[in-house]
Amino acid sequence: MKNNHNGENRIAIEFCKKKLQSPFILTSGPLCYGAEGMIKGHQAGAGAVVTKTIRLGPAVNPIGHIARFSQNSLINTEKWADIPFEQWCETEIPLTVAAGATVIASVGHTLKEAKVIAAEVEKAGSHMIELVSYREETLLPMLDFVKARVSIPVICKLSGNWNDPIESAKKCIEHGADGICAIDSIGPVLKIDIHKARPVMFGNDGYGWLTGEAMRPIALRIVAEIAMRFPDYKNIYGSGGIMSAENALEYVMAGAIGAGVCSVGILKGVGVIRRLNDELIKLLDRLGYPDIQSAYRSALANFPQTEKIRHYDFHFDPFKADGSPKCIQCKRCEQVCCYDARRLEFPAMHVDAERCRDCGMCIDICPTAALTGTWAEQTEYERDKAALSADFDREMRAC
Ligand SMILES: Cc1cc2nc3c(=O)[nH]c(=O)nc-3n(C[C@H](O)[C@H](O)[C@H](O)COP(=O)(O)O)c2cc1C
Repeated sequence: MKNNHNGENRIAIEFCKKKLQSPFILTSGPLCYGAEGMIKGHQAGAGAVVTKTIRLGPAVNPIGHIARFSQNSLINTEKWADIPFEQWCETEIPLTVAAGATVIASVGHTLKEAKVIAAEVEKAGSHMIELVSYREETLLPMLDFVKARVSIPVICKLSGNWNDPIESAKKCIEHGADGICAIDSIGPVLKIDIHKARPVMFGNDGYGWLTGEAMRPIALRIVAEIAMRFPDYKNIYGSGGIMSAENALEYVMAGAIGAGVCSVGILKGVGVIRRLNDELIKLLDRLGYPDIQSAYRSALANFPQTEKIRHYDFHFDPFKADGSPKCIQCKRCEQVCCYDARRLEFPAMHVDAERCRDCGMCIDICPTAALTGTWAEQTEYERDKAALSADFDREMRAC
């Protein structure tokens, strides 16, 4: 059920004082090439759509500028929007707004350009502006200028390539950013076509930018750190590797209220947003959250303050309650044990406690959760070991 008992949409969010129908935000990229693409995103259920980055001159892209990198990641060397700035303001933004979408105009990449573009995209009806730049030193003057000139909310898109994105977030917040998008693509990165013995990207250096699943842990960590550091700052949306409702919920639990999607839409079609919305509602039900707000920031209190040094009590359930096998004998638990500590002789599972180092990989890899583990009470020996390890760590950090 999409609505709660009060008839409210359970996955609606408020971002920069605007109510969005969904936490999924279609981020700046090829799917938002113009009104047509953005309207499709809105109709598929996106909470907001972000224009392809608008600059003073239209981009001309090299042939072959997006390619797949592993299953769910991409490498690209796509530039900004290939539609002229005037056309965005006269046609593309007004049409998208008229279709009922919440439109965020992405404005890049320099102060000179922001000076011309920001007021015009506001006049064209954009609900918010997202500033994007190659360097933090350029972004802040853009932010100062745009904040003074427009009355719509201004979001800063941070880059994980900058020296310290958390410090960048701090500066943006101090300079009055209404919202933060964390983060942009990671790079530069390289993929070689081994049949042609050359890079797959056809830009002038052969390098590209990494997006999709491969960047999610980096982006998620940055989001969590910003959210922890600025607990009263509510307008963060995550961007990086959100391929499923589960991934979006990770971001929400880590302190992002919105979940940006780009690569998943490129790989699966923009209609994937409809499925992501449906799956998110089902996921909330499964995990017992009445709505998306209830899950917001829920993981932050559970970040460890100290290392957990103790051992696992392993549990192995070869059979389900109805007697059918739970363990499918794939033996991945054996395979991934670097210490040869585990042996499956179905239905018996053996672990050599002397060899096991409690890394947890065997539990993590088990596809059916037949093998699980709980933390055992810390022994005196482990307490001593933990204290020694902490002393060593402190000493080494001081060097
Ligand atoms: C082909 C492609 C083009 C992109 N173009 C832009 C752009 O013009 N402006 C921008 O701010 N981000 C751009 N991005 C970055 C995305 O908005 C997003 O931040 C990034 O892809 C990470 O999210 P994802 O893993 O869901 O793709 C682009 C991404 C891709 C894959």
